[in-house]
Amino acid sequence: MLLPLMAVLIASPWPAAASMTTAAAQPSAACQRRCGDVDIPYPFGIGLGCYLFTGEDDITFGLTCNLTADGSYRPFCGEALQVIDISIHRGQARIGNDIKPWCYNATTRSMDEQSAWGWDISDSWFRLSDEDNRLVVVGCNSLAYVTSVNETEYMTGCMATCPSVGRLENGSCSGMGCCQAAIPRGINSYVVGFEEKFNTSSGAVGPCSYAVVLEAASFEFRTTYVTTGDFVESTGGKVPLVLDWVVGKETCREARRNATGYMCVSRDSVCVDSRNGPGYLCNCSAGFEGNPYLLDGCQDINECEDSRFKYPCSVPGTCINTPGGFRCSCPDKTTGNAYYGTCEAKKSQLGQKRRLATVKRRYFNQHGGLLLFEEMKSNQGLSFTVFTKEELEEATNKFDERNVLGKGGNGTVYRGTLKDGRVIAIKRCKLINERQKKQFGKEMLILSQINHRNIVKLHGCCLEVEVPMLVYEFIPNGTLYQLIHGGRHGSRISFTTRLKIAHEAAEALAYLHSWASPPIIHGDVKSPNMLIDENYTVKVSDFGASTLAPTDEAQFVTLVQGTCGYLDPEYMQTCKLTDKSDVYSFGVVLLELLTCRKALNLQALEEEKNLSSHFLLALSENRLEGILDSQIQSEQSIEQMADLAKHCLDMSSEKRPSMRQVAEELDRLRKVAEHPWGRHESEELEKLLVRGSPSTFSEIELSNGYVSLTDSAYLGIQSPR
Ligand SMILES: *[C@@H]1O[C@H](CO)[C@@H](O)[C@H](O)[C@H]1NC(C)=O
Ligand SMILES: *[C@@H]1O[C@H](CO)[C@@H](O)[C@H](O)[C@H]1NC(C)=O
Ligand SMILES: *[C@@H]1O[C@H](CO)[C@@H](O)[C@H](O)[C@H]1NC(C)=O
Ligand SMILES: *[C@@H]1O[C@H](CO)[C@@H](O)[C@H](O)[C@H]1NC(C)=O
Ligand SMILES: *[C@@H]1O[C@H](CO)[C@@H](O)[C@H](O)[C@H]1NC(C)=O
Ligand SMILES: *[C@@H]1O[C@H](CO)[C@@H](O)[C@H](O)[C@H]1NC(C)=O
Ligand SMILES: *[C@@H]1O[C@H](CO)[C@@H](O)[C@H](O)[C@H]1NC(C)=O
Ligand SMILES: *[C@@H]1O[C@H](CO)[C@@H](O)[C@H](O)[C@H]1NC(C)=O
Ligand SMILES: *[C@@H]1O[C@H](CO)[C@@H](O)[C@H](O)[C@H]1NC(C)=O
Ligand SMILES: *[C@@H]1O[C@H](CO)[C@@H](O)[C@H](O)[C@H]1NC(C)=O
Ligand SMILES: *[C@@H]1O[C@H](CO)[C@@H](O)[C@H](O)[C@H]1NC(C)=O
Repeated sequence: MLLPLMAVLIASPWPAAASMTTAAAQPSAACQRRCGDVDIPYPFGIGLGCYLFTGEDDITFGLTCNLTADGSYRPFCGEALQVIDISIHRGQARIGNDIKPWCYNATTRSMDEQSAWGWDISDSWFRLSDEDNRLVVVGCNSLAYVTSVNETEYMTGCMATCPSVGRLENGSCSGMGCCQAAIPRGINSYVVGFEEKFNTSSGAVGPCSYAVVLEAASFEFRTTYVTTGDFVESTGGKVPLVLDWVVGKETCREARRNATGYMCVSRDSVCVDSRNGPGYLCNCSAGFEGNPYLLDGCQDINECEDSRFKYPCSVPGTCINTPGGFRCSCPDKTTGNAYYGTCEAKKSQLGQKRRLATVKRRYFNQHGGLLLFEEMKSNQGLSFTVFTKEELEEATNKFDERNVLGKGGNGTVYRGTLKDGRVIAIKRCKLINERQKKQFGKEMLILSQINHRNIVKLHGCCLEVEVPMLVYEFIPNGTLYQLIHGGRHGSRISFTTRLKIAHEAAEALAYLHSWASPPIIHGDVKSPNMLIDENYTVKVSDFGASTLAPTDEAQFVTLVQGTCGYLDPEYMQTCKLTDKSDVYSFGVVLLELLTCRKALNLQALEEEKNLSSHFLLALSENRLEGILDSQIQSEQSIEQMADLAKHCLDMSSEKRPSMRQVAEELDRLRKVAEHPWGRHESEELEKLLVRGSPSTFSEIELSNGYVSLTDSAYLGIQSPR
């Protein structure tokens, strides 16, 4: 009896962990990716498992590679459509389309019987590109049309005449011997036909009229097509036709909601709604190229070295490649705009430079720069840099719009690359008050000493500008908010990852509360302020600088600016921000992790708008399942995590656990969830299960020495993406 039970226990943690990486199925690396001289990129492919399977349509992403009469291999789609090439970038494939002639038979003295034909791919994931294709009619007395299969949806056509054969012109398809008509958007079936009242059976020209839907760009009318009737002969009877395809029939919005079948799996890829009817496509983000349908398919473009681009910087500026972009910098001893303008020797600007230096020095002193320098001299271990304005300008290409990571009413966050290659995030704020200015250097010093693996590292600051700038390490994978609510990953995050995130964030806050000196209250704990790196490691950010040790309470209070949906309700009554305010806000973050719902969702039903009240109500009425994210509902620790959140959200701050207790409890839950049950002594197992439960939290004394670093000037700015 024991054995099967153990098997269940052993197995249970793993499906959740594995589902983290579940994405749309990926083709095997062994698949044939070339046929003849045609590349076959996924979602196309040869053989089952190598292409995106969409059902048994006439035309699918599954191709065959067959030897043709001319002795070379060519890819085919469906029964006999030859594939000329495939563009992932444009979401298109070009196929060979038959030119259909309609001819006068001198023997029978009549026209061919069949004057109309068509094709229908309406159930497939392909449709005709209206932008690239045209109906082309070649003849001397020919009226042809293209219409929907049942002739009720659309009909369009044109007429070609030859009033004088001598006036026909090569390359001109505008009525004489050749005419063309645009086709409607979004069609995937058509009939092409000739109007039988008109024919090319008389006169000094060939006996045939031709009509075909083809790629306009690859067609050029030749007079001989009508004079000698060699259209079919000279083209081999086939002309290119452009098909648009989609990789899903829903919109991007809908597709992102269901991570399971979502095709845009590469990082640095985006979803694009098809402009030619329903469905979506994927594309690599700007600055990247490759195949967005493959994990890691999108690769950075090295703009500096790519011969397809014009050298992007103006000589003598030098180009430095960055992920998704590049920047231009002037050579040593010169200054200027290396991107648009010129680099000039610094000497020529000596006078201006001196004036500038005075201004800079004034700002530097104003912001407590001297104090900072003194401290830095006496504390050699400090890894903190005071950046010059030029260094930051160079890192961001003069604060180029293209480097903006996020913008708020009060400032902007830029992405930059330092000379040594370090990628940084720079916060440039608009406002700062006089008192804050004086404090700035000192506060920087305190922030710079914070060294915790789950807190964004402050590399330094720049003081020689009117409003100081902060320089942080760059965290690449966006915020927890984006991870939970961004749709792309959403409920795909496994329970163990959620626990890891919660635990690490709690550790960071506990550190700020208990170990930082002086202790620091974050003041604006929320999922958008928790950055995530490539390993799902949390980096707490945005305890914007200021108001250390507030002297007078009134002043302190006005500086607090939490975020709706996260703000400690007790704070609203007491106007006193405590470490427990952070605990409350953290409780809301826990709820986001548990439910994948937003802290405040104004679109929701009245009683569901406010996540914490919705949760507390659901909990008290014993209907937690309705609100928990369905993916993690059956996790064994879920109730304990919900219970912990409940404690954090207690109306009375005194009843809330401390951040340290929260971190310890999460650590315990994490160990339980990750514990490889089968391999450990049962005694140890027991210990894990018996140790403190959340209901045993003792209340701790509030220490008064807490300090808040919250400052409205630094809030409301989106954290780096
Ligand atoms: C390709 O070759 C296979 C096997 O010989 C055959 O079944 C199929 O019909 C061919 N397809 C085309 C498009 O010629
Ligand atoms: C993909 O992005 C490129 C630019 O990066 C653009 O030219 C192209 O049209 C996009 N493709 C689609 C299908 O939107
Ligand atoms: C004309 O029609 C006859 C009888 O149907 C057929 O045998 C002949 O091949 C046709 N000629 C051409 C050029 O199509
Ligand atoms: C071709 O059109 C002319 C009128 O333009 C008509 O007299 C003739 O009968 C038509 N020929 C055939 C075979 O339909
Ligand atoms: C025929 O046209 C109607 C619209 O008038 C459309 O709803 C229907 O789907 C069409 N049928 C086919 C087979 O294309
Ligand atoms: C058009 O080009 C062809 C060769 O492709 C040539 O034989 C013909 O004479 C040209 N027609 C005119 C009107 O120049
Ligand atoms: C999500 O997509 C998968 C695969 O395409 C499908 O099997 C599943 O039914 C979809 N789920 C929902 C909720 O639409
Ligand atoms: C984060 O981004 C990196 C690089 O952009 C990527 O390799 C990684 O898969 C991403 N990880 C997560 C957890 O999203
Ligand atoms: C992520 O984890 C890998 C493997 O453990 C490690 O090599 C890498 O340095 C980690 N990345 C960061 C940013 O910590
Ligand atoms: C959300 O609900 C909680 C608990 O009922 C309450 O204290 C808080 O003020 C509410 N927040 C907002 C923004 O309505
Ligand atoms: C900018 O700061 C002001 C005052 O400090 C504040 O009232 C406002 O809400 C802030 N704006 C944003 C977008 O955060």
